[in-house]
Amino acid sequence: MDTYINNLEWRYATKKFDSTKKISSEDLEKLLKSIQLSASSYGMQPYEVLIIKDPEVRKKLQPEAFNQSQITEASHLIVFANLTSISEEHVDAYLDNISKIREIQVEKLNGFKDMLANTVLQQSKEEQSAWAEKQTYIALGNLLSAAANYKIDVCPMEGFDAGKFDEILGLKEKGLSTAVIAAIGYRSEEDVAQHAKKVRKQKEELFQHI
Ligand SMILES: Cc1cc2nc3c(=O)[nH]c(=O)nc-3n(C[C@H](O)[C@H](O)[C@H](O)COP(=O)(O)O)c2cc1C
Repeated sequence: MDTYINNLEWRYATKKFDSTKKISSEDLEKLLKSIQLSASSYGMQPYEVLIIKDPEVRKKLQPEAFNQSQITEASHLIVFANLTSISEEHVDAYLDNISKIREIQVEKLNGFKDMLANTVLQQSKEEQSAWAEKQTYIALGNLLSAAANYKIDVCPMEGFDAGKFDEILGLKEKGLSTAVIAAIGYRSEEDVAQHAKKVRKQKEELFQHI
């Protein structure tokens, strides 16, 4: 089998990290690049990503995540926080960024602006938040694959109280909310989960070729 698939077989949702092993800044940059390069609907990237190394902050977060050990024992904790609503300012900031990077006048993007105004900006705040939250999972998926490529372990996690996380991290006042988190680092030799066989649907059950 090719390396990419082998690496996906190698990865697993790590239950116990080796807290003595830290991700180097070079490797961390590569993982963050995989998040930065993630695709998103309209390219808007309606989220921010927090990289938490601070042990004190993680100690505060742990009880709000069912005391899961990964929160404090992993090398870093990544928090994907989605925008809870999308405003005209967000759209304008995005268009300005396109204009700057592609060196085109922002007026040339008026058609695209109208499209965003007629779709994303028409949604209720709840719909915008749900849409933004979905985008974070694409970034999470990229992180999982990239980390496997570099033989770095990850535990993707939904087992936490988003409201409490938002409070501790001061996200609400920034118009953000915790969507999903990922503990990243290196597996402990003692983690029995690494020896468990992968449980996945059979191809016939999963795929429909039409
Ligand atoms: C969005 C998401 C949330 C998850 N939440 C948790 C979690 O809170 N704690 C945990 O130990 N594992 C969590 N997992 C890990 C899954 O249980 C695991 O990915 C799944 O059982 C497949 O196993 P594998 O990733 O080891 O191949 C989560 C996975 C995903 C994708």
